[in-house]
Amino acid sequence: MYKIFNTVDEVSRYTAQRLFDQICAKPEAILGLATGSTMEPVYAQLMQYLEQDPVDVSRLTTFNLDEYIGLGPEHSQSYCYYMYQHLFNQLHIPGERVHLPDGTAENAEIACQAYSEAIQAMGGMDLQLLGIGTNGHIGFNEPQTPFDSRTHVIELTEQTRIDNGRFFTDQREVPTHAITMGIQEILEAKEVILVATGSKKAEIMAELYRCEVSEALPASVLKIHSNATIVMDKEAAALLP
Ligand code: F6R
Repeated sequence: MYKIFNTVDEVSRYTAQRLFDQICAKPEAILGLATGSTMEPVYAQLMQYLEQDPVDVSRLTTFNLDEYIGLGPEHSQSYCYYMYQHLFNQLHIPGERVHLPDGTAENAEIACQAYSEAIQAMGGMDLQLLGIGTNGHIGFNEPQTPFDSRTHVIELTEQTRIDNGRFFTDQREVPTHAITMGIQEILEAKEVILVATGSKKAEIMAELYRCEVSEALPASVLKIHSNATIVMDKEAAALLP
């Protein structure tokens, strides 16, 4: 379940290769995608593999994990903007097959319901990619999110808002709420890969390694998933026993 590599580069190559293999094995795969700094080198590497060895991506479907409430696709810190910058402008999946929660929906609850139904209609993810927050969140499922949750609105913790403040010019601009895929939807993915790199993730990775399955540490749910891999560089794994 745990895979430790020396460098971010090796982590990214391993993860991108798993994505590439999934796309080759099943060109109509349903992919669950994450954003954040951890994924940037993963997507860059995936694009390299696809340039070296072009594969038909026109039948892929993607669902992103989360989006800030209040930020539209044109906002440079929205996850929609991120995905086009880092992947979709280069990877030409038909627009109707690309799904991101709508952070500017008039009624966020209805948008969550529709997103969740779309995921279920596709039969869930074949491969779900995850990062991890310093408080153990996956997607934006903050500690104490029920494991049986589906796509929902979440109030971001102060810790998450501080961590993500690095992307905004002013901490006060960091949204207070987000839409996130639920833990249940993550759990229903056929395969999950969680990626953690850098020393800032060392404490939570050691806690995750040691802990019992508990809603207090959302990522611990992967311990009851039958096909989850946790990939780390040696900095993120530095405090593991
Ligand atoms: C992003 C997401 C989050 C991030 C996590 C780590 O779509 O779902 O759970 O994966 O906050 O972010 P980074 O990679 O920036 O440390």
